[in-house]
Amino acid sequence: MSKDKVQIFDTTLRDGEQVPGCKLDAEQKLVIAERLDNLGVDIIEAGFPISSPGDFNSVLEISKLVKNATVCGLTRAVKKDIEVAAEALKPALRPRIHTGIGTSDSHIKHKFNSNRDVIIERAVAAVSYAKTFVEDVEFYAEDAGRTDNEFLAQVCEAVVAAGATVLNIPDTTGYCLPEEYGAKMKYLKENVKGVHRAVLSCHCHNDLGLATANSIAGVVNGARQIECTINGIGERAGNTSLEEVVMILRQHPSLGLDTNINSKLLYSTSQMVSQKMGMMVQPNKAIVGANAFAHSSGIHQDGVIKNRETYEIIDPADVGVNESSIVLTARSGRAALAYRAKIVGYELTKLQLDTVYQEFLKFADRKKEIMDEDIHEIVAATDVAIEKV
Ligand code: KIV
Ligand code: ZN
Repeated sequence: MSKDKVQIFDTTLRDGEQVPGCKLDAEQKLVIAERLDNLGVDIIEAGFPISSPGDFNSVLEISKLVKNATVCGLTRAVKKDIEVAAEALKPALRPRIHTGIGTSDSHIKHKFNSNRDVIIERAVAAVSYAKTFVEDVEFYAEDAGRTDNEFLAQVCEAVVAAGATVLNIPDTTGYCLPEEYGAKMKYLKENVKGVHRAVLSCHCHNDLGLATANSIAGVVNGARQIECTINGIGERAGNTSLEEVVMILRQHPSLGLDTNINSKLLYSTSQMVSQKMGMMVQPNKAIVGANAFAHSSGIHQDGVIKNRETYEIIDPADVGVNESSIVLTARSGRAALAYRAKIVGYELTKLQLDTVYQEFLKFADRKKEIMDEDIHEIVAATDVAIEKV
């Protein structure tokens, strides 16, 4: 069965870079942009050009550098923003302007002190103006997650008529439940006249830990673009994690959806972004965390040594991790000890293993994790003569 493609829109360099303390310099942004292009992302959101001269320059340089992906610049629904973004995107082979405005009652009242009719007028004016510079114009309805579906559909219909090529439906505050977010996409798909002329896009934040689930609900209900970041970095609790959505679609072929991402580059890209941003990846992070393929309990280790698939749903090689790791702790069993002892050169008989294991338990109760060099010490501490092979 041929699969429908979901476009991956990476916003590591824009929404991701909004994280306090994660500011990147222009050189670092270029290196990351080049890696994202090689990874196979379809769109790179390179920055918010009007926000600072530095961001303008980064978008400009990334536009010159990127060979495959569309390069996108963010704007508010403000003429000057759009002009500056268009200027920064000029050298791009595939430029996209990403413009928009808040559509929820809360944003309309508190941010803009405005009303729905004026918001639609501003949205249409922004898209029409952006279209005078580039063909590819994405519209975001900020806080769409809390915007009522009927009004959201009216806004979407108006901007599609003005030429928007992508309709971004952000759950800006990470409020929605997956069913709710999925139903929102379905509603737009069924109720926006001309929606077939645009791609619906998911942009989810992780305030309730639901960004990935919501993005998947979005594509299951008709969206064909996911906006995400490497390691899920982003404002507050972050954005949808790129590596998670890519691997969910790959591991569930029955969804009939896939991306253009070369998954073998996921781990190294995650490491690169983490180092450049000085933002550690939590060890238990799905797909790219240090423990994502590490097994430490005796029962799991025994299973994985017999057959990796007993406790792993992803082959680590598919995401660029060399191999699963068998971590030796006080919870480990004989199978794990024999396995690791063999790697460092000891082929233990059953009797030898029993003796070494008793010594191992004493060590393991004192140390959090037993490393390869400790194994030599453990073997030496037994009164049995064990030769290295
Ligand atoms: O979360 C959000 O609403 C955004 C928009 C600016 C696209 O990041
Ligand atoms: Zn966002």
